[in-house]
Amino acid sequence: MPDRTPKHFLDLEHFDTATLRDMLTRGSGFKSGGAGRPLAGKALVMIFEKPSTRTRVSFEMAIRQLGGEAVVMDRDGSQLGRGETVADTARVLSRYVDAIMIRTTSEAILLEMAEYASVPVINGLTDRTHPCQLMADVMTFEEHRGPIEGKVVVWSGDGNNMASSWIQAAVRFRFELRLACPEQLMPPQDVLDWAAAEGGNIVVTSDVEAAVEGADCVVTDTWVSMGDEENSPSRHNILRPYQVDERLMGLAKPDAIFMHCLPAHRGDEVTPGVIDGPHSVVWDEAENRLHAQKGILHWCMT
Ligand code: CP
Ligand code: NVA
Repeated sequence: MPDRTPKHFLDLEHFDTATLRDMLTRGSGFKSGGAGRPLAGKALVMIFEKPSTRTRVSFEMAIRQLGGEAVVMDRDGSQLGRGETVADTARVLSRYVDAIMIRTTSEAILLEMAEYASVPVINGLTDRTHPCQLMADVMTFEEHRGPIEGKVVVWSGDGNNMASSWIQAAVRFRFELRLACPEQLMPPQDVLDWAAAEGGNIVVTSDVEAAVEGADCVVTDTWVSMGDEENSPSRHNILRPYQVDERLMGLAKPDAIFMHCLPAHRGDEVTPGVIDGPHSVVWDEAENRLHAQKGILHWCMT
């Protein structure tokens, strides 16, 4: 019996390095002009339970440029918002389209969608991870600084969904990741335990200045992720020492790059001098969402 499990893209931890590299190679190939229309006749539905600019537009343009088409469905404008089950939604959408991309409030919803869909499901961000962003981030790092294997990446800030995906990426792409986070906002222990069991080179600390010494790349993210708004004032107080400013960037390697998945909050997690300064590659990073996701879509849908 052939394996009929759809080729989901749920998290980096589920893939070996070669498969992730294959997706990136496809993405870079499309970026350098070898597009054609390999997804002609295919359709993607994109479900949003949270806002999005980059994920929404880059996925839509990616599938269109590969010859396919996209339909957007937001939770409140669909029957999901009135209680239709995720399982039933997955079964119905699988009869209409060739892949489902979902940005959701809870990882359990992503996993239920994947369990009941008979087409590939792509994780467009959950409360736990954001793997599509990491594919773009690895692509961007390597375009600017060469192979990421063995390099040093420093995360400064909230141990959030992006931090978890950076941990998974560090294991799969074999770079050193130093996470500088306040005690109260450390990355989830199960993700750190998984990385340790996989032999990942991950350091967790609250000392951001020590962490950043010799870094090839400094990364941060918003202090208040979507869904975390309730505790926003205390988060600002706790995270203030983790702001990436010119002084902190100056402790990294002289040619270190600065990355941020965006949207950014200048004056909070990053100063204007850093995000708009010479170390920043954030616009290339945002562009690469388009190219990396072409690689993911092509891998999932062919
Ligand atoms: N980085 C990112 O996923 O951005 P959006 O929330 O705009 O999709
Ligand atoms: N950590 C952020 C990422 C946004 C792309 C959030 O979840 O809101």
